[in-house]
Amino acid sequence: MINKIQELIKEVEKFSAKSIDEIENFRIKFLSKKNGIVTELFNEFKNIPADEKKEFGRVLNILKSNIQDKIEFLKLNTEEDNQKSKIQLDLSLPGDSVNLGSRHPISIVRNEIIEIFTRLGFTISEGPEIEDDYHVFSALNFPEEHPARDMQDTFFIEQNPDVLLRTHTSSVQVRVMDNEKPPIRTISPGRVFRNEAISARAHCIFHQIEGLYIDKNVSFADLKQTLLYFAKELFGEKTQIRLRPSYFPFTEPSAEMDISCSLCGGKGCNVCKYTGWLEILGCGMVDPNVLESNNIDSKVYTGFAFGMGIERIAMLKYGVKDLRMYFENDIRFLQQFQ
Ligand code: PHE
Repeated sequence: MINKIQELIKEVEKFSAKSIDEIENFRIKFLSKKNGIVTELFNEFKNIPADEKKEFGRVLNILKSNIQDKIEFLKLNTEEDNQKSKIQLDLSLPGDSVNLGSRHPISIVRNEIIEIFTRLGFTISEGPEIEDDYHVFSALNFPEEHPARDMQDTFFIEQNPDVLLRTHTSSVQVRVMDNEKPPIRTISPGRVFRNEAISARAHCIFHQIEGLYIDKNVSFADLKQTLLYFAKELFGEKTQIRLRPSYFPFTEPSAEMDISCSLCGGKGCNVCKYTGWLEILGCGMVDPNVLESNNIDSKVYTGFAFGMGIERIAMLKYGVKDLRMYFENDIRFLQQFQ
């Protein structure tokens, strides 16, 4: 009997099938409840001498599970099945495209500005967005009653007016002055926050890059030449700059810088409001008070600083008319920038 089962195991091993029907016949032949070979062998069990029962049962179970495995295997590998999978693998179908994202225009412009200044030897410094009064205002020579400290401009956190969202990245420059000795040449890119009504030209969150250069004999001429180089690199060789007197608590003298309108080349258009000039940044010579309150000897060192909004520069560069578009995550807008 056991030999017979061993023979059947070999038979099962050799068996192969080309169609689902053949597999089904194979199953019926062995496993049919009525008169399948395996079923009948199990029925024989009671007639087997007691000392052979164990071995008989073992071999018979092997036969049964081999048959089940074989059926499973053949079902997965018959030709009919292959045909189905061939259809699934229709090589004439167009491929699935992989959608690549693109960089956000603010990131593109920020990286471009960073690249220009790193070529001039500026390092990149970063600091916290949640700041204190000292780093955002006091260390930068803001008088106690200066309107920029007013609730109107600054987001204060909780009830404590000493915890606030930075309104400019000049706070990072204070941290750099805290930690490093001159010569200092650094730019600070980052997000800033101002409590302003959201419109086409203003947002309560925007991005800045501010620069600081402190060394012996740094003059206004250095400031002007650095910014002229920057403007030409970013907006093209023909770009001109002009500096208008202005006021910032932390610089003296202070100026605002315009570039010749990149759209009309200075002839006058509706973007530059027919003036031929576009305002792009604030700048000036670091006020001696700021150097002193950051433990830098203002008799030995001088410096310049500048700061610009990245959104504004990106608007001018790409002709974007509404600043809110940068924050809406509309793919139709974003995919235009590569
Ligand atoms: N911190 C100023 C602002 O946020 C910009 C600025 C920086 C002006 C450095 C002058 C010098 O508007």
